Amino acid sequence: MNKPTPKEIGHGYDAFADLLDQLWGENLHHGYWDDPSDEVSVEDAANRLTDKLAGLLTIEPGDRLLDLGCGIGAPAIRLATTYQIEAVGVSISGRQVERAIERVASAGLADRLSFQLADAMDLPFPDESFDIVWALESLHHMPDRAHVLRQAARVLRPGGRLAVADFMLLPDAGGYEAGAARVNQASKGVLSVVGLDEYQSMLRAAGLVPGAAEDVSKHTRPSWRRAAERFAALREQALPHIGAEQFDLTLSRFRAFSEEPALGYALLTAHKPA
Ligand SMILES: C[S@@+](CC[C@H](N)C(=O)[O-])C[C@H]1O[C@@H](n2cnc3c(N)ncnc32)[C@H](O)[C@@H]1O
Repeated sequence: MNKPTPKEIGHGYDAFADLLDQLWGENLHHGYWDDPSDEVSVEDAANRLTDKLAGLLTIEPGDRLLDLGCGIGAPAIRLATTYQIEAVGVSISGRQVERAIERVASAGLADRLSFQLADAMDLPFPDESFDIVWALESLHHMPDRAHVLRQAARVLRPGGRLAVADFMLLPDAGGYEAGAARVNQASKGVLSVVGLDEYQSMLRAAGLVPGAAEDVSKHTRPSWRRAAERFAALREQALPHIGAEQFDLTLSRFRAFSEEPALGYALLTAHKPA
């Protein structure tokens, strides 16, 4: 099954751009729930996930962070405000970039945060130009994770840090193969996943030293069910944007993913040797 190209992913996000707020809120990523009795809202749970990932890193005031796949800028704004850092965000969706720029201007943060349309597969930045590279739920879209990780390593200064939140493959009794095939089938190639060990090997191959590797699957799992419920309720609004076929396909994916035991979620960090 062919993975969509970055351009196709960008067009997809552009088509959904103004609907996604109602689906996910301002953060376009999963939430973190402590346990099944935790009733925190989708919006608060999403901010928690940002904070969990940030908590795994050392972030110093004045650090320069590159956000790969920045959405409409919510995580970068949160990080810049909490840690007093500078951030540059890139997205493959032009509409997201426009919205991120508007949000930063109204938050009065345009002197420290900027956003641009760019493909993370081909980063338009010089070598060693960032202290931190941050990729919150974006690498799964990209055609070649290993390549993007090498790009991240290239733009990190020696001693620089990487933070990644990404879907991952969980093994079952028979290993990874059956789960990988089911995830690939349910996503029609849109969501590619690898196991945690393979992820760490890719980090090493990119010249990085793996750090934290947390399996947070049970904490993020409620996100798919909640997304399916919210999305189903948006049917009439969504159809003019994406058509019935795409709508039904997306909804069936959310439902399939919510029940897929092999589809996990990981928080990872790494650093570039000094
Ligand atoms: C699930 S959203 C996450 C957005 C953001 N990190 C957040 O948490 O709100 C995935 C993001 O990855 C971006 N993306 C996907 N492929 C990309 C690529 N090749 N280059 C740059 N951004 C990409 C999308 O445009 C989108 O902003």
